[in-house]
Formats: sequence, structure tokens, C-alpha cells
Amino acid sequence: MTEFPDILIRVLRQAERVAALTGAGVSQESGLRTFRDAQTGLWAQYKPEDLASPEAFARDPKLVWDWYAMRREKVRGVEPNAGHYALVEMEKRVSQFTLITQNVDGLHRKAGNRNLLELHGDIQRVRCSECGEYAEAWDENGDMPRCAGCGGMLRPDVVWFGESLPRSELEAAVEAARGCQVFLSVGTSGLVQPAAALPFAARNKGAVVVEVNLEPTPLTAKADFFLQGKSGEVLPELVKMVWG
Ligand code: OAD
Repeated sequence: MTEFPDILIRVLRQAERVAALTGAGVSQESGLRTFRDAQTGLWAQYKPEDLASPEAFARDPKLVWDWYAMRREKVRGVEPNAGHYALVEMEKRVSQFTLITQNVDGLHRKAGNRNLLELHGDIQRVRCSECGEYAEAWDENGDMPRCAGCGGMLRPDVVWFGESLPRSELEAAVEAARGCQVFLSVGTSGLVQPAAALPFAARNKGAVVVEVNLEPTPLTAKADFFLQGKSGEVLPELVKMVWG
């Protein structure tokens, strides 16, 4: 059991505006590897950072496509875990709860969160790299799949390194961070901008910052509370302590 300071419980119980930022750690207990875990098998020779970029796609589109096809398949077979469901409970209990995620696996939506900002896109969506049109169907076998309209190469609808985040989502995330009373950072290494700046934006506006992670991160020293452990264990315990 995690020890929760009384003051944290009181602050959360009284909070009317809470924002949470999640990363790959939240999905780890659903069986998905985190982004910076070493890859296995065929993909062990590549770093994810070297596959998730426009340069990688330009160099070898089929390699990038196949990596995402493999990940899409993995995501399809997994379910939300207790950490995801605890965040759904929080949304029910807090009058203004904004969930901001860097994850592209769709598990927060599947769990039932409604006020959700997916900053890095959705791995299940596929769009044309030229005209932007979404594709509903494509052939996974053979050559690079192409857009039925313009013939451009298809790509996952996720944000790659060096690309901009969807503007309205990012603006809403910054607004939620600046306006909240409590900001939770859960299962993220806090290494990728601009998401990594959100807890600091919240802190600068006076929010209480709470971090849940297996290990310390660059945020830990600045957080008001660091709850070390698995999000699938810590978050349900926290919800129970605060809201019963
Ligand atoms: P990372 O893989 O960088 O970090 C995962 C974090 O989760 C680490 O700090 C782990 O200690 C922590 N962790 C692992 N298992 C956990 C658990 N069960 N409970 C709590 N914490 C746990 O993933 P992200 O921070 O999400 O972006 O990475 C951010 C972005 O970097 C990704 O969205 C991706 C990548 O570039 C894009 O693809 C654009």
C-alpha cells in the first residue's frame, strides 16, 4: 500500500479543477512496452526515436509502416488496466477534469474518459501522407499501402519527432494546466516537449503537482508529491483514499 499524506488527500478532495498528463507507463500494465524500453526481436536493432520521424519515413517508408503495423496489432489486443479506470473515476468525481495523454493506444478512451486530449494522435487511425485524407481500409501485405484518392503513401495518424502537435489539443492542454488546482503527471519520463512543460506550467500558476512513476524523473524534484509505484496500483488506492 502506498502512503498518502493527509494534506494531499484533502487538497484532492477539495479540488474542482484537476488536470492529468499520462505517458506510456500507464499502459505498461496492460502489456504494452513503454516507449523507451528496449525493443525485442526483429526490431531490437532500431531505437523508436529512429523510426518515429519524417526522415525515417522518407528514407524507408515500408520499414516505418511495418513497425507501426506491428504496434497497431499489439494495441488491438490489449485492454485498459486499473490505472486507466482510476482516471475514469477521477473524471466522475472532479467537476472539471482534463486528461491529457501522450499515448497513441486509445486505452483512455476505451476505459471511458471523455474530456480527453490525445496530444500525439491515435495509432489506429491512418491517413495519407500527401493529402491528409483518412483511410478506412488498406492492404497490409505487399508494397507500401497508398491513398485511394491521390496515390500518396499512407502513414499512421501520430505525431512524429520534429512534427507539430495538433494545435487545438495543445492549446486546450496548456489552458487546463494553467487553470487547474492539482496537476497529476503519471507514467511519463517527461523527456519529450511540449508535453513535458505542462506540469511546470501548472506549477508556475500555483497548482499542486503530483507525480506517479516507478522511478524519479526530471520533474520529481519540483513536484509537491512523488508517489513511487505502478500507476495501476497507486491510482486506484489514491481514488479510494480521496473519494471512498
Ligand atoms: P517513456 O517510455 O519515455 O517513459 C515511460 C515512463 O513510465 C518512465 O518514466 C517509467 O519509469 C514509467 N513507468 C513504467 N511503467 C510504469 C508503471 N507501471 N506505472 C507508472 N510508471 C511507469 O514514455 P513517455 O513519457 O510516454 O512520443 O514518452 C513520451 C513520448 O516520447 C511518447 O509519447 C512518444 C515518445 O517520443 C511520440 O511518439 C511523439
